[in-house]
Amino acid sequence: MRVWAIANQKGGVGKTTTTLALGRGLAMRGFRVLLIDLDPHSSLSRAFGVPADPPPSGVMELFNPEGAELAPLVRATEIENLSFVAAQTSLATLERRSATQPGLGLALSSALARGGQAYDYVLFDCPPTLGLLMVNALAAADRVIIPTQTEPLAMHGLTGMCRTTDMIERSRQRPLPVSILPTLHDKRTRTGNETLRQMQEQHGARVWEDAIPNDTRICNVDVLTQSMPPAQYPGRGLSAYRRALDWLLASERGELEQAA
Ligand SMILES: Nc1ncnc2c1ncn2[C@@H]1O[C@H](COP(=O)(O)OP(=O)(O)O)[C@@H](O)[C@H]1O
Ligand SMILES: [Mg+2]
Repeated sequence: MRVWAIANQKGGVGKTTTTLALGRGLAMRGFRVLLIDLDPHSSLSRAFGVPADPPPSGVMELFNPEGAELAPLVRATEIENLSFVAAQTSLATLERRSATQPGLGLALSSALARGGQAYDYVLFDCPPTLGLLMVNALAAADRVIIPTQTEPLAMHGLTGMCRTTDMIERSRQRPLPVSILPTLHDKRTRTGNETLRQMQEQHGARVWEDAIPNDTRICNVDVLTQSMPPAQYPGRGLSAYRRALDWLLASERGELEQAA
């Protein structure tokens, strides 16, 4: 089992889209994939048609003091090999509980130890806040993928995220490789291209050399949540995500070989 956290403290940068597109891509390559929605806004769960009301079963149960089993919370999707665990709006209350409940920072790591072996890849769709949920995801992760919009304001968020991952890496004493995915890129604008260049200059090999283009066809969640023969892939967005996945898998192979 490999665990990827898709995280950025900024909202609207493409975290959920990236989680869906990479998860779908991995599943279509034959890997058994579990997506875990950690955002109280539950965009990923909504994309798969889970209503907010009545509150679904999901991630919240993994934070019960007795620690629920993962398997009963897992939902199948239309895509073979792709399942997910839904988020609940009540996840927002977790941050308040954290102070009084020791060990809560490792709740997701221990949940994966109780059932994650059934999957080749587990992807966390993180909320846009550096709180208990994101810390849990980063603590459990083998890799963090940071989708970052190619616009000047996003660069500050990126620096903050890298600081956070460095801190987690030091405290857990296990490497946490970072992959930065430029998203929502408009190559026709000077600002977009300049920001991409700065990102590459400041963060070097951590940054994907290409970028996910701004492509409105990807906003139609059906594109990401339904299975479709490769010949029918609509648009540049999805094909860019396929190339991004190639890069991520190659980085991972390189790291595993180095560690061996
Ligand atoms: N490459 C893209 N091109 C165009 N729109 C996109 C792209 N990626 C994401 N979006 C849209 O931008 C919005 C924010 O994306 P989302 O994945 O929900 O970000 P986050 O999870 O970081 O808040 C959504 O409406 C989504 O459909
Ligand atoms: Mg999201």
